[in-house]
Amino acid sequence: MARNGPQLDRRAGGRGAPLPSQGVSHKRVRTSQSCETVMRLSRYFLPVLKENPAEAQIVSHRYMLRAGMIKQQAAGIYSWLPLGFRVLKRIEEIVHEEQIRAGHIPLLMPTLQPADLWRESGRYEDYGEEMLRITDRHKRDLLYGPTNEEMITDIFRAHIGSYKDLPLTLYHVQWKFRDEIRPRFGVMRGREFYMKDGYNFDLTKEDALHAYNRHLVSYLRTYERMGLQAIPMRADSGPIGGDDTHEFLVLADTGESEVFYDSKVTDIHLGSREIDYDSHEECRSVMEEFTALYARTDETHDEARFNERVPAERQRRARGIEVGQIFYFGTKYSEPMGATVVNDKGERAPVHMGSHGIGVSRLAGAIIEASHDDKGIIWPEGVTPFHCGIVNLKQGDAATDGACGEIYGALTAKGLEPLYDDRDERAGAKFATMDMIGLPWRITVGPRGLASGKVELTSRRTGESEEMTPEAAVARIEEIYAGA
Ligand SMILES: Nc1ncnc2c1ncn2[C@@H]1O[C@H](COP(=O)(O)OP(=O)(O)OP(=O)(O)O)[C@@H](O)[C@H]1O
Ligand SMILES: [Mg+2]
Repeated sequence: MARNGPQLDRRAGGRGAPLPSQGVSHKRVRTSQSCETVMRLSRYFLPVLKENPAEAQIVSHRYMLRAGMIKQQAAGIYSWLPLGFRVLKRIEEIVHEEQIRAGHIPLLMPTLQPADLWRESGRYEDYGEEMLRITDRHKRDLLYGPTNEEMITDIFRAHIGSYKDLPLTLYHVQWKFRDEIRPRFGVMRGREFYMKDGYNFDLTKEDALHAYNRHLVSYLRTYERMGLQAIPMRADSGPIGGDDTHEFLVLADTGESEVFYDSKVTDIHLGSREIDYDSHEECRSVMEEFTALYARTDETHDEARFNERVPAERQRRARGIEVGQIFYFGTKYSEPMGATVVNDKGERAPVHMGSHGIGVSRLAGAIIEASHDDKGIIWPEGVTPFHCGIVNLKQGDAATDGACGEIYGALTAKGLEPLYDDRDERAGAKFATMDMIGLPWRITVGPRGLASGKVELTSRRTGESEEMTPEAAVARIEEIYAGA
C-alpha cells in the first residue's frame, strides 16, 4: 500500500490533508506568473476581439477567441495565449492535486512513441486514420500518441515483477494527437489536445475495480472543484476495449453526446464529504450512489429499460459534453505485452489494468459552456485566471491611481492575483473587457466613491454591487478564496 500513496493523508479533505478541498480554499500563489507585467493590463498581452469570429459555432469557442485565450494555428491545433494558458494550467493543477490526493503517482511520457510497441498489442493496424504516423530519418515508424496504454505497460513490465509492488497507479498530463475527421468547436474537439491519462496495475480484478471506483471518486471531486457537475454515465468501451466503463458528462445544449437520465441524478453531489481512498467499501459506496440511477449516453441507451426504470416526469433527454472516462479492461494489454507479476504462491500472472482520462483542454471550453452570459465568460472561483479585476475609472488621477495601487498591493501581499486594468480607456470599455474575460469579482475605483472612502465590489455572476472601503473589499476577496 505504501507505494501507492505515501506522502499524503488520503482522506479526501480529511484532517491534515495538505491540499485545498472542494469549497474550502481556492487560494494559490503562482510566483512565476505573479509579477507586475502579468497583472497590469497596460503591460499584459490580452488580444480581445470586438467582433464575433465567423468560424465559431458555439459560445465557448466564440468567447475563447474573443477573450484572447487561444489562436488557431491549423485545423484543431491551437496556441494558448496568456489568459487561456493560465486557465489551462489552473485546470491541470486541480487535476494533479486530486490525483495525488487519491494516491496516484505522476510521471511524464513522451508525445512520440515507437510503432513497435503498438504492434505488440495489435493496435498499430487497428487504430486507423486517427493515428498520426511519422517516419524518422532512419525510416523507423513512430506515432504521435493518441493514448498511452502500450507505453505505460512497457514501463511497468521493465520495472515491476512482484505482487508486493502493487497496487500501483501512474498518470501523466500530456498532449495527445488524434487526427479527428472533423475537428470543431475550438478546443472541445481538437486534433492536438491536452489530456490527463492514468493507468492502474493490480493483482486481482477486485483490486482493479477498487482502482476504478477510486478514480470515479477523484474525478467527481476534480469536476466539482471546477464548478462543474459531471454525471457518470454508463458508456461503450470503443477502441480502448474493456468491460466496465463510465463517461463523465457535463450537461450542455451544445454537447456532442446525446444523453438520457433520471433527473434525480442531478441532485447528487460529493461536496466536501470525507472519503478514504484506501477503503474499498467507501469508494464502492460512492460509485454505487452516483451510478445507481439511470444515466446513459446514446451508445448504451436502452429505451425499454429507461421507460421501465424512470418515471415519465423524471425522464430527461438532453445533450452533454464528455469531460472524462474511466475503464477497467483486465488483462487486455498486460497479457499480450507480458506485464506479469509473481503472486504470493510464486505463480506468475498478468496484472489487471484500467485506464482513466480527463480532457484537460476540453474542460476549458466545457466550463465556459456551463458558465457564461451574453456579456462573456463567468469563471468559477476554482479555475479563474485571476482572482479579481481592479478597474480604475480615472486613470492618471492621483487619488484613484493611488487607491488602485494600494488595493493591488494588499491583494498580492495576501498571495492573491488581481488583474489591474490600468489602461487609459473609457469606463465602458474597461467593464466590457472585464465582463468578457469573466473574472468572478471586480473592484471598481472612481473619484466619486473615493471622496467618501468607498470602492465598489461587483459579482460577475449576479451583477450585484456593494460599496465598501478598500480594506473591506480586499478582506472580502480574501475570504471568498479562503472559502470561509
Ligand atoms: N479530440 C479531442 N479534443 C479534445 N479533448 C478530447 C478529444 N478526444 C478526447 N478528448 C478528451 O479526453 C478524454 C479522454 O479520452 P477518451 O479516449 O475517453 O476520448 P474519446 O472517448 O475518444 O472522446 P470522444 O468520444 O469525445 O471522441 C475524453 O473524455 C475527452 O474529454
Ligand atoms: Mg471517451
